[in-house]
Amino acid sequence: MLAIIGGSGLYSLGDDFKLEQQVPRATPYGDTSADILQGRWQDIALCFLPRHGPGHRVPPHRINYRANLWALQQHGVSHVISVNAVGGISQQMSPLTLAVPDQIVDYSSGREHTYFEGDDSAVTHIDFSWPYSAQLRGIITEVGFQLGQPLVAAGTYGATNGPRLETAAEIRRMKNDGCDIVGMTGMPEAALARELELEYACLALVVNWAAGIEDRELSMQEILANVEQGMHKVRQVLLAAARLIGQ
Ligand code: HPA
Repeated sequence: MLAIIGGSGLYSLGDDFKLEQQVPRATPYGDTSADILQGRWQDIALCFLPRHGPGHRVPPHRINYRANLWALQQHGVSHVISVNAVGGISQQMSPLTLAVPDQIVDYSSGREHTYFEGDDSAVTHIDFSWPYSAQLRGIITEVGFQLGQPLVAAGTYGATNGPRLETAAEIRRMKNDGCDIVGMTGMPEAALARELELEYACLALVVNWAAGIEDRELSMQEILANVEQGMHKVRQVLLAAARLIGQ
C-alpha cells in the first residue's frame, strides 16, 4: 500500500479522500506526528500522514521521523511518497517548479536518525548510494510529465536543520556542494525508510529562491502564497501516481 507524507501546505488530500481507519499515534519510538489516516482517495487505498501534525505544530527538528515511518511500515505500507516544500538553489529550480530529487546531502544534526542503535541487533550499515527508489521516482516523473507539469526529474536535496532559513553563505556553500534544492525535512526520513526497506521517493515543490540567490530577504508571505498555489499541482501528480501504484 502507498502512503503519502504531507509536508508544509499539504495537510489533507481533500474532500475526495474517504477515511476508513485512523491508526493511533503510539509506537515503541514514541508518538507519530498525527494519527495515520487510512482510506480511499478516489477508490485508491492509501494512507496519509501530515508530517508536521495537526495544525502544523511540530517543527522539522522535533518531528519523530522514526515513529512516523515505523508506524507506516507496521500498517502494511510498502511505498512512501514524501512531499516537501523546498527552496530553489540551482537555476532550473524556480518557485512553483516540481522536483523529484535523486540525491541527498545531509546537513541536519541532533535528530534520531537510525533504528540500528546497536543494543539488541547486529550493527547494520545500509547501502544509501542512491537514496531514493528509482521505481517510484520513475512513476512520479512519468505522471508529472504526462500532466504537463514543470517538473525537474533529478537533483540533489540538501537537508538543513531549521527551523530558521539559511544564510546566503550557507546556500553558496550548498551550491558548491552540488545541492539543487534545500529543505528541512528530507532527512533522516529517507534513510529511515531505507532501513525499513520501504520504496521511498520525494516530490518537492519549490516555494522560494533560497537565501541570497536573489538580492533580497525571504518573505514568509511569498513562501506561503507559493505553497498554496503549488499544492494543487502536487495533489494532481500524487493522485495520478497513486493510481499507477495502486493497480
Ligand atoms: N530553506 C529551507 N527549507 C525550506 C526553504 C528554504 O529556503 N523553503 C522551504 N523550505
